Amino acid sequence: MSRTIAILPGDGIGPEVMEGAERVLAAVSARFSIEFSLARADVGGLAIDRHGTALPDKTLSTCESSEAVLFGSVGGPKWETLPPEKQPERAALLPLRRHFDLFVGLRPALVFPQLVDASPLKAELFRDGLDILIVRELTGGVYFAGPKGRDETRAFDTMAYTPEEVERIARVAFETAMQRSRRVTSVDKANILTTMVLWRETVSRVAQDYPDVSLNHMYVDNAAMQLIRNPAQFDVILCGNMFGDIISDEAAMLTGSLGMLPSASLSDTSFGLYEPIGGSAPDIAGRGVANPIAQILSAAMLLKFSLDLPEAHDAIFDAVRLVLDDGYRTADIASAGTTTVSTEEMGRKIAHRLTEEV
Ligand code: IPM
Ligand code: MG
Repeated sequence: MSRTIAILPGDGIGPEVMEGAERVLAAVSARFSIEFSLARADVGGLAIDRHGTALPDKTLSTCESSEAVLFGSVGGPKWETLPPEKQPERAALLPLRRHFDLFVGLRPALVFPQLVDASPLKAELFRDGLDILIVRELTGGVYFAGPKGRDETRAFDTMAYTPEEVERIARVAFETAMQRSRRVTSVDKANILTTMVLWRETVSRVAQDYPDVSLNHMYVDNAAMQLIRNPAQFDVILCGNMFGDIISDEAAMLTGSLGMLPSASLSDTSFGLYEPIGGSAPDIAGRGVANPIAQILSAAMLLKFSLDLPEAHDAIFDAVRLVLDDGYRTADIASAGTTTVSTEEMGRKIAHRLTEEV
C-alpha cells in the first residue's frame, strides 16, 4: 500500500529545499521498502501567478486526499503589494491551518552538538545540550478571532480565546512534557491582557491533572529575555498563537540558523502539515545556498506523526547527524574547518547516508 503525501513547495527557497526532502523520502522508501505516492500542488505566490489564488481548490483537495502535507514556504516581494488578505501567507497558510483544524504547532529547538559554534550565544550556556519544544496554539488568538477591520481612522484585530481552545492546547503541552523532562513553561501576558488571564487560569486548572509535571508561568517579555540568558532552563514552552510565533523564531535562532528547524502542525487526527520554521528567504532563493535540513527534518516529523513510521524519522535524524559529523555545512551554519556545500549537495549527502547505513 502506498502512503500519500501532498508536496507543496511554494515560493522562494521552497522548491530548492523541497528537492532535498524528496530525495530523502526516496532514500527512506528504498531503505524501508515503503512506497510513497507524492502529489505535488501549487501554493502561495506561485499559485497566485498560475491560478489567481494562493490556495486553489485543486491544491486543497490534493491535501484532503493525502495523509499529510509537506509544505515549503510562501511569500516574497512580488506579492507584497497585493491587499493583505490576498497575500500568500494570509491566503494560503492560515486557511490551511484553519481548514484542517491544525491547532497544535510543535516547534522543536534542538541544538545539534556539532553546531554549538553556530549559535550566537556562548557555547557554555548549553554545555548540557539544548532541547526545547515550543507548543504553539495555531488556530485561535489574534490571528483568527474577530472582529478585524480597518477604516479611515483606525485598524484593529481582536485577541480572543475560549477556555476550550486553551485547554486543548494545554493538554497537548502537558502530555508531551510527560514524555520529556516534565516541565512546562506557559507564556502569557496576564498582567495586561484579559485573554491571558483566562489563559493562565485554564493552564493552571489543566495542570492539576498532571501532578508529575511542574508548571511555571512566565510573562512573554521575560520569556524572550530568559531564552537568551539561560535557555537550558526550558523544556516545553506553551504559547498562544502570536507569542508562539515570536518565541519560536527566537528559539530557532539559538540553534544557529532558522534553516535547521522543522515544525509540525497537527489536529486531533493523524493528519498534519509539516514545514520549516523559517520563511521563503527570497534574498537567497535560486542561488543554491539555502539549508535544506529544516525541510528534511520536517519530512522526518511527518513520517513519525502522520504516517506512524518512527524508525524512518530516527533514521533521517541519524543521517543528518552523520553528515554534520563529516563536517559538511551549508553557508548559514559553516564555521572554521567545515566544508561548505550547496543546497543540492546537502540533500544528496543526507539521502546517501540513509541508504548506506542499512
Ligand atoms: C510561522 C509564520 C506564519 C505565522 C506566517 C507566514 C503566517 O511566521 O509559521 O511562524 O505567523 O504563523
Ligand atoms: Mg513565524
